[in-house]
Amino acid sequence: MEMKKKILVTGARGFVGARVMEYFKDAVAFPSEILRAAEPEKGVIEYVKRVQPAAIIHTAAISDIGECEKDADASYLANVVLPDALNKAAFEEKIKILMFSSDQVYTGMKEEGPYSDEIELPEPTNTYACHKLLSEKRTLDKNPDCVHLRATWMYDMPLYNHKNRMNFLTLALKAAQTGVPMDASENSFRAVTYVRQVAENLEKMLLAPGGAYNYGSANDLNMYDTTLYFFKALGLEEKAQALTSKTKTAGNLWMTFEKLNRAGVYFDTTTEGFERVIKDYALKV
Ligand SMILES: NC(=O)c1ccc[n+]([C@@H]2O[C@H](COP(=O)([O-])OP(=O)(O)OC[C@H]3O[C@@H](n4cnc5c(N)ncnc54)[C@H](OP(=O)(O)O)[C@@H]3O)[C@@H](O)[C@H]2O)c1
Repeated sequence: MEMKKKILVTGARGFVGARVMEYFKDAVAFPSEILRAAEPEKGVIEYVKRVQPAAIIHTAAISDIGECEKDADASYLANVVLPDALNKAAFEEKIKILMFSSDQVYTGMKEEGPYSDEIELPEPTNTYACHKLLSEKRTLDKNPDCVHLRATWMYDMPLYNHKNRMNFLTLALKAAQTGVPMDASENSFRAVTYVRQVAENLEKMLLAPGGAYNYGSANDLNMYDTTLYFFKALGLEEKAQALTSKTKTAGNLWMTFEKLNRAGVYFDTTTEGFERVIKDYALKV
């Protein structure tokens, strides 16, 4: 009997990877020690040839901007060399590969957003994003079928038994529980996306043409109003302003999603995502 082909997931214990593993019930976790080798290409290619997956979803990365700034060589290895190796393996085996990129690739833009994924980008302002953009270019040059997902900041409740970094939701709930306000800027424009929907939509992305896609929720509110919206949706109408500390940090990572929609993929808006996560976990304070 022929074995059913499975999705191979890198970074399976990470924030996104763990949700991908939960969504694709029979997914296989790519062994971390192969991915973390100083020269990963040979091991990666051998492993993919042996497992014969239907596709690869690559979430492993050094995803912390500060960590990449402190150790650019480590970032280059994890965020450029490793994706190159996985891309080569996928190309040789003629299987689809989806890779996570970031909305940070737009940090070098001089014009105001929202930004399209169908324009040439200037060099981003941090090492992490420079390496993500370089990886997009290098992998797509070699394998035009490769798909990069320019993800927004994502959130979820913590998973039991995982290393859980703070995200928008956990920061906001902490503020709601302690009464210590959460910082949010009126001059900062970006989307935050429920990671469960990020995982669900990967199924359709497995059929999408190669390229780099803006991937996540649209949000037409600044971060201050986004945060207020969340507290109000949580039922904290009267406390919402006291729980949100207005800062001046400026930044614009708004994105447009025409290309994603042409591939038949749609996300809830950021505020719709809030309503969903509050319902999914029956959140109340
Ligand atoms: N989280 C966000 O809001 C966000 C936003 C935009 C884009 N992204 C992108 O989305 C992807 C997933 O992010 P995430 O938040 O899930 O990241 P994460 O929680 O930091 O997990 C990534 C996984 O990568 C593996 N890893 C770490 N360092 C590595 C290294 N040097 N070499 C090889 N593997 C390494 C680790 O797996 P093991 O411990 O099993 O080795 C880790 O669990 C990344 O590409 C990230 O850049 C994330």
